[in-house]
Amino acid sequence: MDFVTSELPSISSRLTGKVAMVTGGAQGIGAATVRRLVSEGARVACIDLDDRVRSVTQMSGGDTLAFVADVSDEAMLREAILEVEQRWGRLDILVNNAGIDGKPALLADGERRDFDRVIDVNLRASWHAMKFVLPGMIARGGGSIVNIASAAALVGFETLSIYAASKAAVVGMTRSAALEYGRHNVRVNALCPGGVLTPLALSFMDTGTTAAWADKHALKRFAEPHEIAAAVAFLASDDASFITGAAIPVDGGMTAH
Ligand SMILES: NC(=O)c1ccc[n+]([C@@H]2O[C@H](COP(=O)([O-])OP(=O)(O)OC[C@H]3O[C@@H](n4cnc5c(N)ncnc54)[C@H](O)[C@@H]3O)[C@@H](O)[C@H]2O)c1
Repeated sequence: MDFVTSELPSISSRLTGKVAMVTGGAQGIGAATVRRLVSEGARVACIDLDDRVRSVTQMSGGDTLAFVADVSDEAMLREAILEVEQRWGRLDILVNNAGIDGKPALLADGERRDFDRVIDVNLRASWHAMKFVLPGMIARGGGSIVNIASAAALVGFETLSIYAASKAAVVGMTRSAALEYGRHNVRVNALCPGGVLTPLALSFMDTGTTAAWADKHALKRFAEPHEIAAAVAFLASDDASFITGAAIPVDGGMTAH
């Protein structure tokens, strides 16, 4: 009996020919994601408030574009996405990564200004970016959207209720969009990282609590940003061709309790 086997692309060329947009790529998970997507062959555009995004993209060694802009500015976000589509003729992958945790506070002590900013950056900007990329993805026959949510979307986190609410909303939006756009071959997934060693995570942990945070994970450690980037690249690639509407914990077992 003959078995027909099709060649799987090697990981290093899995994204060749694809164009990606990553938000929040100047540091942390976003910067690791830029490097990973470039290393797998994608052309990558990145938008960040911080102008270090230029050096991250330049030093990735690939074909890249950098935009210094606030993702919560709808007009700038739309302009950046249009420019990518015009320059490279396509946009196959969107990674909504830019995010903030807001000021840690008990719910009753939270401030309206903080609530609005966290929702604007974590939820509204992700919604806008999806709105802006979807028509092109549909017209070109498909795409992959990866929304970086958080383990805080799945379990409670003391003093981070606004952040947790924003990330749970991202998961809800992800699942609904997956149902709406699956017929157009657009896959929409969320990743829910646990603690990742980035400036964001370290900002709400003082050194005294770092060990306690690490202990919440079954693996008894934090993730390195590249471990989240590897999951992003998988979801972005055709290796994940039958995965959509998922909210995948990449959390070292934090939510396995
Ligand atoms: N680090 C963690 O432990 C952890 C855990 C779960 C989820 N996450 C999520 O992962 C994502 C990345 O987090 P990180 O830890 O790498 O954070 P980080 O603070 O290290 O990096 C975030 C990047 O986003 C950029 N950014 C923030 N607001 C922006 C805006 N309005 N417009 C444009 N760029 C903006 C920042 O300048 C920065 O470069 C976030 O969505 C975060 O909520 C992080």
